[in-house]
Amino acid sequence: MNRAHVSVQGITKRFGPTVAVDGVSLDVEEGSFTTLLGPSGCGKTTLLRMVAGFHHPDQGDIFLRGIRVTDIPAHRRNTAMVFQEYALFPHMTVGENVGYGLRLRRVSADEATRRVGQVMELVGLAGQQRKFPHHLSGGQQQRVALARALVVEPEVLLLDEPLSNLDAKLRIRVRSEIRQLQQQLGKTTLYVTHDQEEALAISDRIAVMNRGRILQLGTPLQIYHHPVNRFVADFVGLANFLEGEVSAPGQVRMEGVSLTVPDGALPGRRVTVVLRPEAIRLHARPPEGVANVLRGYVTAASFLGTLARYWVDAAGRHWIVDVPSPGEALMTGEVFLEIPRDRIHLLTET
Ligand SMILES: Nc1ncnc2c1ncn2[C@@H]1O[C@H](COP(=O)(O)OP(=O)(O)O)[C@@H](O)[C@H]1O
Ligand SMILES: [Mg+2]
Repeated sequence: MNRAHVSVQGITKRFGPTVAVDGVSLDVEEGSFTTLLGPSGCGKTTLLRMVAGFHHPDQGDIFLRGIRVTDIPAHRRNTAMVFQEYALFPHMTVGENVGYGLRLRRVSADEATRRVGQVMELVGLAGQQRKFPHHLSGGQQQRVALARALVVEPEVLLLDEPLSNLDAKLRIRVRSEIRQLQQQLGKTTLYVTHDQEEALAISDRIAVMNRGRILQLGTPLQIYHHPVNRFVADFVGLANFLEGEVSAPGQVRMEGVSLTVPDGALPGRRVTVVLRPEAIRLHARPPEGVANVLRGYVTAASFLGTLARYWVDAAGRHWIVDVPSPGEALMTGEVFLEIPRDRIHLLTET
């Protein structure tokens, strides 16, 4: 028996000739924070709207706690969605906005006032019920939208790029507030973003999507360190890609260089070596007694505070190398790249 809180099974949604969601299956565990991550147009919103009940899938089914809800309308699903553009009613006070769903559910006025007060406190807007949305900043409006979703005590919270209208600093603050609140309430949450850093920062699990499909589902660490293909490796974080052939067990040969790599791939196979910029070590002098050292030349360097990013030419190609805690001086001229074997990830797709 499937014990997932939300289970999406083989769902497809077409809009005319466009296949927006293409045979997607996904299980979301109770109390977890799961993120749909992918480029614009890959089907994230369409998938979320099907879980909410705003779109009906052409094929496949959706289950909440094992109960099929595919044909149940949105307002009877016990899910609540926060939209990208807040969608607050401008002529209603904040309190009326937040209490809207309770009115629809015919909750008594006293009870509604109490619950609105509680949830306003929860999102850090205690006592602001009488203001109008235009009195509030973007970040506060987004919290009102969150409060409006939470007040009906949905069993599943659905958030569609809720931070995209906020500036960069506020985005980081509000995202950690959302995560804290989710953990405090233990609320099963499905979150949508196109921002890979945001996804890494707040998720228990990430489903990386492209062209209507889920390419990989995993924890942030799995997605980052063990991407299943080049799209995932490229979309999540930066990476150096090198194509070569397995020349012997644990050895990959490519033009101008041969690397010792983790065992696994069979000799003769074409592989792509994936190397995160921070996995490479940079030395001013050749390090002794280590494998995979390449002589190179710094072509550009950029100081980013917590790290320095270098562009290095070595073995006939360009490399990106990140060095943490760069301190007072940057490296220039001749350098030596050390590529630790256990930091190499191999892709064996064709
Ligand atoms: N209501 C709609 N009518 C027609 N096409 C749509 C509609 N909604 C989404 N699409 C198309 O479906 C694809 C997926 O869209 P969407 O789910 O909004 O992607 P995302 O949220 O990942 O940006 C896109 O090609 C988009 O243009
Ligand atoms: Mg969208």
